Amino acid sequence: MTQDELKQAVAKAAIQYVIDGEIIGVGTGSTANFFIDELAKIKDRIKGTVASSEATAARLRGHGMTVYDLNEVSEIAVYIDGADEITPAGAMIKGGGAALTREKIVASVSRQFICIADGSKLVDVMGRFPLPVEVLPMARNAVMRQLTALGGQPRLRLKAGSDQAFITDNGGEILDVAGLHITDPAALETGINQIVGVIANGLFARRGADVCLLGTSEGVRTLTFA
Ligand code: 5RP
Repeated sequence: MTQDELKQAVAKAAIQYVIDGEIIGVGTGSTANFFIDELAKIKDRIKGTVASSEATAARLRGHGMTVYDLNEVSEIAVYIDGADEITPAGAMIKGGGAALTREKIVASVSRQFICIADGSKLVDVMGRFPLPVEVLPMARNAVMRQLTALGGQPRLRLKAGSDQAFITDNGGEILDVAGLHITDPAALETGINQIVGVIANGLFARRGADVCLLGTSEGVRTLTFA
């Protein structure tokens, strides 16, 4: 099976976690896009959605689904999103698609977080995938120095095919931090959040996944975290 077929399989499997009549939080990225296409098939069963990025909102609206502003909503039943890495304990690195801050906000008000990922994303220790950190542009170099002091090698994310900084939906910039061997994801998540100028970091350990649907050549594996 190709990686896309594995992503499609978990996206289909995630439909069983959608709760009728509820608002569904929707993530960002290629796996989330497959999920949006599946959700569209049952759109009449849900009340609506909250999107974790402008790109996701546009795709949801393109399928005729209602997208609520998070300020209109007090709680979300379930949040469904991909990951760049996930551990056997349900901690994740996210933000490869630059939507980490909104993803973290939507996840924080969701009762359940269902991670959908192809099997290549499961790792024992995170850090091979550079950790995305969203920063205020004026703080970029100051934050870079602090991330270097933590043992990382931060690099400013650029717009594809350009030497200009990539700008997020929130007006932030992204530092991708290589070289981290993340043995205590919750402590590192908190530590990076303490750096002034950081908007959010891509570690989802304090609020990790509740369930991960992992696409493998033997089928979809369900990992459940306590
Ligand atoms: C976007 C994310 C994505 O969930 C993550 O990058 C995985 O993407 P994909 O499903 O394309 O592999 O965190 O900010």
